[in-house]
Amino acid sequence: MKILVTGGAGYIGSHMVHLLLKNGHRVAVLDNLENGHRESLPAEITFFKTDLRNLAETEKAMASFQPEAVIHFACYIAAGESMEKPFLYFENNLLGGINLLEAMRKKNIGKIIFSSSAAVYGKGKNKPLKETDPIAPSNTYGETKATLEKIINWYAKIYKIRYVAFRYFNAAGANYGIGEQHEPETHLIPLLLQAANNRRKNAFIFGDDYPTKDGTCIRDYIHVTDLCQAHLKALEYLTDPKNNSEIFNLGTTEGKSVLEITELIKKTIGRNLRIKIAKRRPGDPPFLMADITKASKMLGWRPEKSLEEIITSAWQWEQKLASNKS
Ligand SMILES: NC(=O)c1ccc[n+]([C@@H]2O[C@H](COP(=O)([O-])OP(=O)(O)OC[C@H]3O[C@@H](n4cnc5c(N)ncnc54)[C@H](O)[C@@H]3O)[C@@H](O)[C@H]2O)c1
Repeated sequence: MKILVTGGAGYIGSHMVHLLLKNGHRVAVLDNLENGHRESLPAEITFFKTDLRNLAETEKAMASFQPEAVIHFACYIAAGESMEKPFLYFENNLLGGINLLEAMRKKNIGKIIFSSSAAVYGKGKNKPLKETDPIAPSNTYGETKATLEKIINWYAKIYKIRYVAFRYFNAAGANYGIGEQHEPETHLIPLLLQAANNRRKNAFIFGDDYPTKDGTCIRDYIHVTDLCQAHLKALEYLTDPKNNSEIFNLGTTEGKSVLEITELIKKTIGRNLRIKIAKRRPGDPPFLMADITKASKMLGWRPEKSLEEIITSAWQWEQKLASNKS
C-alpha cells in the first residue's frame, strides 16, 4: 500500500517507516524536521520537508504522492510545555491536523490512522482505563488530542474518510538501529539512561507524594515496535470497507511506578543512577494504565515485548547516541 507518514522523522514515526518498508509498503514522510531526524530514515523513501500548518504545501505533497492511507504522528508532544505555551500546542496540533484532513478530503484519501494519547483521560484511575472511560484531559496537549479525535470523527461522518485513532500509553524502547531522541527529552526511560551514562548529571523524579503505592506516578510502558505493529493491523482493518472507524488503547495493561522503573534499569544495565526528587509537574496524572481488550479482540493485536526488552534496546540506543556525540 502507498502510505504517507506525517511526523515520520520523529521517534515513533521513524520506527513505523522502517516497519512499513519491511512489510513491503511504499512510504512517503511529511515532516518539517523541527523535532525530527532525517538520518533516522532509510534513503529509499520519498521525503517532503513540509509544515502541516501550511495547507497549500500539505495539499501539494498529498497530490504528488497520492497515498492510499495516512498515518498521522506529527505534532508537539510535551504535556508540561503545553501548559506553558498552550497557543503553540493548539496551533500546531489542531491546525496541522485540520489541514491534513482537508488535504485528504480534497485528494480523496479515505483512510487515516491517528496517534492520540492516554493524556485524553486526564487523571486516570487506579485500574486499566477503557476507551469508554471519561475524556477529561489535565493538560492542553491532551486537549488537542481529544479535540482532534472529535474533528476526525466529523470528517468521517461528513466525507468518505474512515479512521483508527490509537490512544498510546508510554512508548519506549528502540529498534532498527534508531531510537528516541527528543530535545529536550521529557520521557522517563531515556532520561534515566542518559543519567546512567553520565550524559546528564541527575535524573529527576517529579513528585513522590502521589496517592500511589510508593508515591511516584504509575505508567504503562509499551515497546515502540509493538505500538507500530498495531498500526499494521489497523491498515488491514481499514482495508475492509465493512469495518467502521474506531478508537483503541495501546499499552500493556501493566503499570509500573517511576521508582520501580528506576530499580529495573539499575538491575538490567548494572549501573547506578543519581536520582533527585523534584516538585510535581503540572498536569501529570498519578495513574495511567491501558485496558487493551478492544484492540486485542477487534485487531487481533497483543504486545509481545517485555519491559526488560524495552530497557535493553533503549540502553543500546543510548550508548550509540553517546558515542556518536563524543
Ligand atoms: N512518545 C510517546 O510516548 C507518545 C505517547 C502518546 C502519544 N504519542 C503521540 O505519538 C506521536 C509521535 O510521538 P513522538 O514521540 O514520535 O514525537 P516526535 O516529536 O519524536 O515526532 C513528531 C514529529 O512530528 C514533526 N512535526 C511536528 N510538528 C509538525 C508540523 N507542523 N509539520 C510537520 N511535521 C511536524 C516533528 O518534526 C517530529 O519529527 C505524536 O502524535 C504524539 O502525540 C506519543
